[in-house]
Amino acid sequence: MKPSMEENRLLEDMNEEDYEIEFPPRHSNRSTWTFRSILTCSLLILSISINIFQCWYFQNFASERSKHAGVTGGISRNFVTNTEWSSDNTTHADMLWTELSPDTGMVVVDADYSQKMGLYRTQPFPWDQSKNIYMLEGYHSLHCLMYIYRALREFEQGIPQTTPMHHHIHCLDALRENAICSADDTLRPAGSGQATPLVPEKQPRKQCRDWNQLERWAVENSACFKRYPDDDPKHRTLEEWRNCPENSQFMPLVNKFFNGS
Ligand SMILES: *[C@@H]1O[C@H](CO)[C@@H](O)[C@H](O)[C@H]1NC(C)=O
Repeated sequence: MKPSMEENRLLEDMNEEDYEIEFPPRHSNRSTWTFRSILTCSLLILSISINIFQCWYFQNFASERSKHAGVTGGISRNFVTNTEWSSDNTTHADMLWTELSPDTGMVVVDADYSQKMGLYRTQPFPWDQSKNIYMLEGYHSLHCLMYIYRALREFEQGIPQTTPMHHHIHCLDALRENAICSADDTLRPAGSGQATPLVPEKQPRKQCRDWNQLERWAVENSACFKRYPDDDPKHRTLEEWRNCPENSQFMPLVNKFFNGS
């Protein structure tokens, strides 16, 4: 049988280079070698780039992502010592504090998800027993601030307190926990110095998460909840769970229950 080209070449090699087998074969293809080195270098550069990108991404965004709603960080806000919420115009301040709507933070998640994440089992959701009810921590803080604000205004005006003292202590405790938990190292101007930036064109900034993202997630997973005051006959009744946002999957059930249609 006629030896193939490959075999011919092998035979030639054997004859000519019997004692040189440890060196790279003479007619290794130069262009293949160049191609391989370019490929290796490219892959190396790509791998290094991906590593650098990952470091940058995790440092700036991923580590800031919230656990359940996936709210991202990277929101830079001017640092200010006073906002409209501490306005001397009490009519204006009262309006802002009562508009906080912490009920938006009442959400439902699948019981499976609760179990996977090791969360508390809660009272079943009236419109879907396979879901658990939670209040988002951020909204609970707002709820607390709202109640404490109202208590202080009632105290200031000398009118009876709406909410019992133990609720305010619970709220102060929750806010204390949050302060300890976030270990926020923002440098607030203190002492008697003027609170103006040292470099006028460079206002101090604060890194924040995107509250609007959290709000969107809360609405998408809404528990249809609206709290009625303790002395309202609707307090602690199903009436509190019929306030679904538009497009809520529970709307048809709620309508059926309350209107029979
Ligand atoms: C106080 O705030 C209210 C509500 O925003 C506003 O209508 C009113 O004009 C303000 N009063 C003053 C003195 O600025």
